[in-house]
Amino acid sequence: MNNVADLEKNFDSKLEKNDFVEPKDWMPENYRKHLIRQISQHAHSEIIGMLPEGNWISRAPSLRAKMVLLAKVQDEGGHGLYLYTAAETLGASRDELLDALHTGKAKYSSIFNYPTLTWADIGAVGWLVDGAAIMNQVMLQRTSYGPYSRAMIRICKEESFHQRQGYEIMCHLSFGTEAQKEMAQDALNRWWFPTMMMFGPPDKDSPNSGQAIKWRIKRETNDELRQKFVDRTVEQAEFLGLTIPDKNLKWNEAKKGYDFSEPNWEEFYNVIKGNGPCNKERLEARNKAHADGAWVREAAMAYAEKKKENILAA
Ligand code: 3HC
Repeated sequence: MNNVADLEKNFDSKLEKNDFVEPKDWMPENYRKHLIRQISQHAHSEIIGMLPEGNWISRAPSLRAKMVLLAKVQDEGGHGLYLYTAAETLGASRDELLDALHTGKAKYSSIFNYPTLTWADIGAVGWLVDGAAIMNQVMLQRTSYGPYSRAMIRICKEESFHQRQGYEIMCHLSFGTEAQKEMAQDALNRWWFPTMMMFGPPDKDSPNSGQAIKWRIKRETNDELRQKFVDRTVEQAEFLGLTIPDKNLKWNEAKKGYDFSEPNWEEFYNVIKGNGPCNKERLEARNKAHADGAWVREAAMAYAEKKKENILAA
């Protein structure tokens, strides 16, 4: 039986060689806990993220727009399932993870605590929020934990469709009537800074990032991804003829990137403490959906039990 020192050495050499850590491999307990924390919150974000957009399915401006939004919202539910399954490979119980979400103990992405007030918001969410999620998730395809990386590869394929459908909505509006363009600008004004918060607090204030980089769970830091997001998105806004609501946004030739204003981090911590515009409404909707779906879970479990009995009896 290997002693802990050998096990740690083997774990470290896996990371150095960029090999995946798999569920059956030995891993430091804190590595496991770190992953369960991050992957479960990622999963919670996916299923809560269905709510602000689901709110517009019945009000989509055309049948095509409705079908596209339906497909996107369904995808998010699937992303949540991949991620809960990845968390379960670490020994987490899905019921406990969902309980932590439903009782307000667990975090999910702050961005979903903002309201979607107009159809332009659905465009801004797809373009900006899914755009930011892709920035983060493309990086996470190289995470050291095998099941998480494989979930990311699957999710990123669908996420790029999400971002494109949002940007298509923003194109329709920005190149439409004056009133439509104003709607698009209003949505950009309201979603820009909350989207920047999705990448997490500044690296200097991030208690988890240092260790996440050491364990190759994260391959880029919060600030690096935020910078990449801004540099990529400014040109997209320019193409739309929209103005990023940041008077300090300015190209910095020396760093070959944009200088920009920091989001309001006091607002960020307030939202993740549960005091955002929609936190209460989101958890109520999520708890109701879980209660309303109990009969489906019970029926599926009863069917699975019966099937197992028949197999054993055969
Ligand atoms: N919303 C809520 N909580 C946040 C947050 C945010 N935007 N950013 C950071 N936090 C929390 C962290 O969870 C941590 O709290 P905890 O220790 O209690 O878990 C604390 O703030 C400090 O942040 P750190 O930077 O130290 O934490 P991490 O190293 O975990 O980095 C993260 C935060 C970048 C969000 C990282 O967890 C991550 O990459 N998670 C996976 C990606 C993810 O969850 N994306 C959310 C959006 S998913 C989505 O948008 C779906 C799309 O289809 C629409």
